[in-house]
Amino acid sequence: MQINDAYDPKHYVAAANRYEQMTYRRCGRSGIQLPVLSIGLWHNFGHTDNLETARHILRTSFDHGITHFDLANNYGPPFGAAEENFGRLYRQDWKPYRDELILSTKAGWDMWPGPYGNFGSRKYLIASLDQSLRRMGVDYVDIFYHHRPDPDTPLEETMGALDHIVRQGKALYVGISQYKPEETARAVEILRKLGTPLLIHQPRYSMFDRWVENGLLDVLEKEGVGSIVFSPLEQGLLTNKYLDGFPEDSRAVRDGRYLNKGKISDAQLAKVRALNNLARERNQSLAQMAIAWLLKDPRVTTVLLGASSSKQMLDNLGTLRNLAFSTSELEAIEKVLKG
Ligand SMILES: NC(=O)c1ccc[n+]([C@@H]2O[C@H](COP(=O)([O-])OP(=O)(O)OC[C@H]3O[C@@H](n4cnc5c(N)ncnc54)[C@H](OP(=O)(O)O)[C@@H]3O)[C@@H](O)[C@H]2O)c1
Repeated sequence: MQINDAYDPKHYVAAANRYEQMTYRRCGRSGIQLPVLSIGLWHNFGHTDNLETARHILRTSFDHGITHFDLANNYGPPFGAAEENFGRLYRQDWKPYRDELILSTKAGWDMWPGPYGNFGSRKYLIASLDQSLRRMGVDYVDIFYHHRPDPDTPLEETMGALDHIVRQGKALYVGISQYKPEETARAVEILRKLGTPLLIHQPRYSMFDRWVENGLLDVLEKEGVGSIVFSPLEQGLLTNKYLDGFPEDSRAVRDGRYLNKGKISDAQLAKVRALNNLARERNQSLAQMAIAWLLKDPRVTTVLLGASSSKQMLDNLGTLRNLAFSTSELEAIEKVLKG
């Protein structure tokens, strides 16, 4: 994998060959192509993290053709910090490259106190995007998402807010996240009538969490909607990170909010070890095999990765060297996953 040798913390010039190394897939039936790997700022971009490490991760990503950076209002800690830190980096590194980037943000989870800082009202979504734009220092985002379904707000109101935001020019496209197949089909229908087609769905999908295979991917294909799948490495579990215990620098030890020792069972670790052996036979890291396994389905537009170092991102980019699976490899993986 090529590294941009001209690394200078103060002045960034993107690698000239950045588009030669990436594959792009069309996002549903839209005009937008996304890189098959995207980078998310959920972790490692908060005020408790190192901004220079964060800077290096984004530069390494873009230098290898990753044009899509994914944020949300509440990424941090604290809430809003990832957008603020991205805003700092944007002013220093990314402004000249704005038209080469797909930036996204979201609202839908708890953000500020009171009844207007959560879920799916028009009031919340429109105010939240205005705050996000201020924190990031940009005039618009490329994709704005409703982050999760809201059981109590009429879907017409939430989708109407997304349509309004596009008409305001504050987002170019809209997406939804964590919506079930039936909710997705309804959202598609409402948005189509409003004249703002649904670009993309952001569901969780990995070797260990395959719920999208039970209907969601079928709906997306039928309706011409793309997909960006999150936590593809199960927050680090589907890598070599936990093969020999719990390292101090791992998310499970350092953070522990969403992944911790108690959430990782011995049975899961046994599967991780068996998968690691299969990856080794393919001359891949486990992370690379777990990513390639998701990309074998053309309905997956892009795999949304997190990283705590640019070294990890380079490992993940190495996936592109081997995306093919033989039938026997797929059967061996299936046996481990279903075992
Ligand atoms: N829409 C939603 O509701 C939602 C929810 C969650 C996430 N997301 C999006 O999805 C993005 C990715 O989620 P995620 O961070 O859970 O993804 P992930 O790719 O499953 O996990 C990323 C973590 O795995 C470890 N890792 C990554 N590459 C590695 C490698 N090559 N070798 C060893 N370890 C490696 C790192 O953990 P260590 O820190 O331990 O090194 C890294 O922080 C988020 O940033 C966010 O944009 C969306």
